[in-house]
Amino acid sequence: MADSTPPSQETLSNLLHETRSYPPPAALAADANVKADAYEAAAADRLGFWEEQARRLQWEQPWDTVLDWNPPFATWFDGGRINASVNCVDRHVDAGLGERVALQWEGEPGDTRTITYAQLKDMVSQAANALTQLGVAKGDRVAIYMPMIPETVVAMLACARIGAVHMVVFGGFSVDALGSRLDDSQAKLVITADGGYRRGKASALKPAVDGAVADRPAVEKVLVVRRTGQDVEWTDRDVWWHEVVETQSTEHTPEAHDAEHPLYIMYTSGTTAKPKGILHTTGGYLTQVSYTHWAVFDLKPETDVYWCAADIGWVTGHSYIVYGPLSNAATVVMYEGTPDTPHRGRFWEIIEKYKVTIAYMAPTAIRTFMKWGDEIPAKYDLSSLRVIGSVGEPINPEAYVWYRENIGGGSTPVVDTWWQTETGAIMVSPLPGVTSGKPGAAMRAVPGIVADVVDENGASVPDGDGGFIVIREPWPSMLRGIWGDPERYKDTYWSRFEGLYFPGDGAKKDEDGDLWLLGRVDDVMLISGHNISTTEVESALVSHPRVAEAAVVGAADKVTGQAIVGFVILRGGGEEVPEDLVQELRNHVGTSLGPIAKPARLLAVPELPKTRSGKIMRRLLRDIAENRAVGDTSTLTDSSIMDVIAKQLPSAS
Ligand code: WT7
Repeated sequence: MADSTPPSQETLSNLLHETRSYPPPAALAADANVKADAYEAAAADRLGFWEEQARRLQWEQPWDTVLDWNPPFATWFDGGRINASVNCVDRHVDAGLGERVALQWEGEPGDTRTITYAQLKDMVSQAANALTQLGVAKGDRVAIYMPMIPETVVAMLACARIGAVHMVVFGGFSVDALGSRLDDSQAKLVITADGGYRRGKASALKPAVDGAVADRPAVEKVLVVRRTGQDVEWTDRDVWWHEVVETQSTEHTPEAHDAEHPLYIMYTSGTTAKPKGILHTTGGYLTQVSYTHWAVFDLKPETDVYWCAADIGWVTGHSYIVYGPLSNAATVVMYEGTPDTPHRGRFWEIIEKYKVTIAYMAPTAIRTFMKWGDEIPAKYDLSSLRVIGSVGEPINPEAYVWYRENIGGGSTPVVDTWWQTETGAIMVSPLPGVTSGKPGAAMRAVPGIVADVVDENGASVPDGDGGFIVIREPWPSMLRGIWGDPERYKDTYWSRFEGLYFPGDGAKKDEDGDLWLLGRVDDVMLISGHNISTTEVESALVSHPRVAEAAVVGAADKVTGQAIVGFVILRGGGEEVPEDLVQELRNHVGTSLGPIAKPARLLAVPELPKTRSGKIMRRLLRDIAENRAVGDTSTLTDSSIMDVIAKQLPSAS
């Protein structure tokens, strides 16, 4: 790892002064799904604990072995056979819950759909029949590039039902990003829509798919949902959802799959340019998402109305819109659009309208709402809320307290949930009926998970010290590997500390032994709660003819957590990036990676700081981007370069 000094010494000392702590409301604690004894029970018999959680699901055939551990490869619930879609749908209908609302969907323009579990079962069955008819078989990969509409959920569950492996690509990603994921996964079907509504207008999706599949013969068919009714190009490869799916029989007999049968691939950015296809399998994954959704949100499926504001294109949507909540027979609110359309109170309007009791969103959104002003949420009745969650990046204490006060009415527990695409499910989080939450702390590993903070030699640090978070024991929803690249799986996660899983985050144990997550320590940036690799953005920049070399860093940003700052050496020189070129380069990165990866700022430099082995020292560039005194430059080939850069950029922000 090039640059693995925890970036957040300042954060760390600020956080040390944070002494607020909020005990759970008495009524919630008394009636909580999970009480304090769960920690001890799980610690005393960890595998027995996970077996008990697996029994929350319906298995067609029980497992023989709970865990088979050949580090770093794990097999959970071997011998067991299970179908994820049956667990999310049929099982609840069979239990007499067919009339319960599964999806309460709200379109951005204000159109709505209410889908019961019985209806969802019919929709999933039809889609499963259609997939089979389109030639999709067990083990095949299916790409899903969709807006936030119920058909997206249906498509995922239909894949799971027939054992096809879904690969959802965030609808905001570009043609190229979609294309490289199609290449890597070799998907044979793409499910998409004409478009979706975003920021008050119909935003097209089909053209990106047209572009991506044009020279990719591995894609046999493109299945298109009509959402916006906008004009689309049409080829022989395309079929309409309403013609091929909605005409199918609603009868479909599911087959159970092995517990370790692949359920999905989700691509995430790593420290190199190539995104990693994170592989999740069925039984263990479903066990942990189901358990954590029930435990961390204290879900009471009969009465709760649950809303996770993430996009299904990210892992949060997979685990906590689809598989966790639906496996628990929850009523799930799903919203298509942006938080400021048609007005900045949209989220609070949705909570008031559907009497949402549990809400889950990202710190970047919370900070945006803070900026928009307290008076906006104050106009709405948010008293239905009883647990509110945060995910995606460290939540700063101020944002936590604002969330608790202004959204949670000053008494609703905030659960700050730490996990990753790779962990599949929540790993570190308060339990709302047990934990006295501290603003900014994810607190403790959930029952059944063994997390620790270690120093650079892998030794556990004492309370009060900082270091790197690690996971000591395998967990049911852990990634099973990187699609097509087992070596990279070992190198990335299991080589830094012998025998320990290293997620790449810095962390701190406070005097009580509670955990504070401090952000990435590698070359991955966290932009609005999403991993973006520095290398990927750099590669995009240098693919532009005007850029000779580029280095990007994530600089602290009040709203997005980190903002991308790019340092570029221009071909033909230049001390400044002209304004029109700034726009051109930002758009260039947007086209190759997606708008989320556009640099917020671009600075021209004569040279980049490099170590003797040629690695860019991003740490020093981050110092500049964050207006700090530049740190230790002793390993640079030429230590004067930082003076040159700093002089040229007296104030980077
Ligand atoms: C990285 C994983 C978890 C799903 C969404 C992001 C950061 C996530 C927290 C949190 C501090 C957090 C970590 C992690 N992160 N949640 N509650 N506190 N940091 O998934 O794209 O795989 O990103 O997000 O740095 O490693 P992802």
